[in-house]
Amino acid sequence: MPGGCVDSPVVTNEPPTPPALDDAPGVADPQDDADLPGGPARRRGPLRAGERVQITDTKGRLYTVVLTHDGFFQSQRGSFRHSELIGRPDGSVVTTATGHQVLALRPLLSDYVLSMPRGAAVVYPKDAGQIVQMGDIFPGARVVEAGVGSGGLSMSLLSAVGERGHLLSVERREDFADIAVGNVESWFGGPHPAWEVRAGDLADVLPGAVEPGSVDRIVLDMLAPWDNLAVAADALAPGGVLIAYVATTTQLSRFVEDARTSEQFTEPRAWESMVRTWHLEGLSVRPDHRMIGHTGFLVTTRRLAPGTTPPQRTRRPAKGAYAPDGEWAPEDVGERSISDKKVRRVRRDIHRRSVMEETGMASQPGPATTTEPAGPATTTEPAGPVTTTEPAGPATTTEQVGPGGTAAPVGPARSAATLATPEEPDDRA
Ligand SMILES: C[S@@+](CC[C@H](N)C(=O)[O-])C[C@H]1O[C@@H](n2cnc3c(N)ncnc32)[C@H](O)[C@@H]1O
Repeated sequence: MPGGCVDSPVVTNEPPTPPALDDAPGVADPQDDADLPGGPARRRGPLRAGERVQITDTKGRLYTVVLTHDGFFQSQRGSFRHSELIGRPDGSVVTTATGHQVLALRPLLSDYVLSMPRGAAVVYPKDAGQIVQMGDIFPGARVVEAGVGSGGLSMSLLSAVGERGHLLSVERREDFADIAVGNVESWFGGPHPAWEVRAGDLADVLPGAVEPGSVDRIVLDMLAPWDNLAVAADALAPGGVLIAYVATTTQLSRFVEDARTSEQFTEPRAWESMVRTWHLEGLSVRPDHRMIGHTGFLVTTRRLAPGTTPPQRTRRPAKGAYAPDGEWAPEDVGERSISDKKVRRVRRDIHRRSVMEETGMASQPGPATTTEPAGPATTTEPAGPVTTTEPAGPATTTEQVGPGGTAAPVGPARSAATLATPEEPDDRA
């Protein structure tokens, strides 16, 4: 494999070679664009032998093939010779030997990433786009990523930094790094001049690979990104962006808490993105039934100037958000305790309701009958199964805290309880 990944030092960075393409008519002069890896010379003009195309059949099935002069495409929808496509424009339709039409297009980067051979799972294109945008990966930037996995993200990062930037990609597994180099070089048509791949653990490789404070952006896509906070802090320039891509909330939490504890980064920001594709057919215009439900969470933070401590947060963490004894309480997961008074009130409501259900009477003996307005209570109390309007179990003793740390109503159950007991002020904050 060209530029295969070995133990440090550097394994790529051979001089760029012009793409090996046929000189079919209409092709841009490769010399003009030879310094633009994966650029116009590989993306424009008629389809050429040696390049990858994606074939879509009438059932929407996708096939990725490399066109060759002597190649032959075969599928359930029939066959055709590659030579029928070579020299024709991108987006051509071919009729197979069995009379079926198929469409041939050069794959976009997002198509390629999802169809290329993979060792490790790739960063999904929707997330790669977010990383480039929210991580502010700019032309000429000095970027570090780890791990490299299959090289899925590397291609987006290289496209963003361009040939005058620098991407150092560190991968713990040499076999994965080899797969990544193969995938990336296949996409760009050879070694990318801005790419350096090193095998090893980021914590070992990074300090010797870059000058302290010289890296603009670091992207961590690995199981335990918090293990690399210290080396990332040393490598990043002040104001530099650290972005982590994690699959689970537990990883997200650990990363964020450790970043805060280090006092070398700004307050982290985390999010996820969901992409819902649409079915578009005449009057039937609606979301598709299926979607990718979960890929990963993204979290960004920025390197503070050395010696600076993070500004005091004006919004304090919710009371009890950090359990001092290590025991988890409802508050630790964002729930807020409700006073004993409220619990007594809820129990009283339940008792009163059960009496009403049993007796069929709204008025009951005792003080409650004097304050409870007869009539309306029975009309405002939702009829039907109580379990659908009253939160069951712990919800009666705790409240969920919404974004921003304020108590958020939990659906209709909250208003039903309030309506049923107008005589008592709500003791929620
Ligand atoms: C999910 S994969 C990365 C996928 C990659 N970003 C892509 O889009 O193809 C995670 C990779 O991180 C590597 N890894 C985990 N911890 C590492 C570390 N401390 N240093 C370097 N690589 C690491 C793993 O070997 C694995 O290949």
